Amino acid sequence: MAKVSLVSLGCAKNLVDSEIMVGHLHQAGMSVVPDADQADVVIVNTCSFIDSSKEESIGHILEAHRQRGLRKRRGNQKLIVAGCMAQRFSKDLAVELHDEVDAFIGLDEVTRVAPIIEELLGRERAAGEAPVNLVQGRSTYIPDYDTPRFRLTPRHSAYLKIAEGCNHPCTFCIIPRIRGRHRSRTVESVVAEARQLVREGTREINLISQDTTFFGMDTWEDRPGPRSPVDSRRGTALTTLLRELNAIEGDFWIRLLYTHPAHWSDELIRTIAECPKVARYVDMPLQHISDRMLERMQRETSGSYIRDLIARIRAGIPGIAVRTTFIVGFPGENEADVDELAEFIRTTRFERLGVFRYSQEEGTRAAKMEEQIPVKTKEARWHRLMKLQRSIAGELAAAQVGRKLRVLVDEPGVARGEADAPDIDGRVYLPITAPVGDFVEVSITGSEEYDLLALPAGQSPSVRRTARQAQ
Ligand code: F3S
Repeated sequence: MAKVSLVSLGCAKNLVDSEIMVGHLHQAGMSVVPDADQADVVIVNTCSFIDSSKEESIGHILEAHRQRGLRKRRGNQKLIVAGCMAQRFSKDLAVELHDEVDAFIGLDEVTRVAPIIEELLGRERAAGEAPVNLVQGRSTYIPDYDTPRFRLTPRHSAYLKIAEGCNHPCTFCIIPRIRGRHRSRTVESVVAEARQLVREGTREINLISQDTTFFGMDTWEDRPGPRSPVDSRRGTALTTLLRELNAIEGDFWIRLLYTHPAHWSDELIRTIAECPKVARYVDMPLQHISDRMLERMQRETSGSYIRDLIARIRAGIPGIAVRTTFIVGFPGENEADVDELAEFIRTTRFERLGVFRYSQEEGTRAAKMEEQIPVKTKEARWHRLMKLQRSIAGELAAAQVGRKLRVLVDEPGVARGEADAPDIDGRVYLPITAPVGDFVEVSITGSEEYDLLALPAGQSPSVRRTARQAQ
């Protein structure tokens, strides 16, 4: 049976696609090996979000090809390119990477990966023959609870994709053209998968999609009546889903990632406040605060809407940590826009914040806009905001000292609290080796920039020796 090696790049949504591919490979009796050296097939699951993601993807493809050349396996080891870059650029790449790649598969082919591999391995590629291109047009696939999947995250923390695709018109983003229109799973399907995860020992379920707050709304079109996120007749909605997930027996967190601000409602705020298993954490990319920029970005929000929403979230969900991202250097951005954004960051004091430099992406409307900002200016604006946030984050972390916190142990001596999502946020360092995957009560004893130092609750600080100090 074939041995397959897989490199997964990009975001958590792509990682779930990789997990689905691995699940199907296992189901077909194929084995997945960590070392490409032993593999009959190498799959690179690519990202195509911005230029640097494309460069990284191309780098991995070329390296995989170079390695099989070094091992003199060219010809009998197949190289498959999957994921967002294949979905978007397979026609161009089939020409540019004619010799390097054997097949391109798109987002809708993840469940067919095993028969595709069998076919590739069963035939010789003739000299000069073009790579096989199996990428369909627009992506429409969405996994279900019974889709074979092999989790690539630690046992205690899982991503659960509740919807796929995006209907937003953001002028800087290429993802809707790659991932297609928004389509939600049913509440029943998501709950069935969550129950299974909890049975398997998962302690943190990270709900993901391109826009988690739009969950279910795509199915509302067919129903009579006005379209409103507060309409309780709407059965398929994020609030319904959260309440049903919260009712599952067990000790676990539900974490909301990728929520678009336009679809928040008071009902959602109330639901999070009333559901103790939903982490006091929201990830809500805002991208800017200046009305001029929000308009040009087509974010379907305004500065006053965002300010009011954050105030309502903070008032309605005590202790909530808000994570957001901003883009600097978007076409037409001036110093007054950046001043307004800096002042907004300074006064709002986001618990978690990332800043991106705008990237001019082929195929987006923003790429064709006039007044593109020079790289140096983008860089200076990015540094200014990052410096500001670093000091805010440091103060917020220092303010945690002396508090008690419930943390989830990720690895020996390293944990995360409710306010920290996996891979993107800070960590809590512990001097003990509590079992990985356990919740532990700790007292915060110190802070280091974005991270916290802690002791098990009740232990004296005099015996403090942090995991970092011990390393
Ligand atoms: Fe994710 Fe990159 Fe695709 S960010 S959705 S893997 S373009």
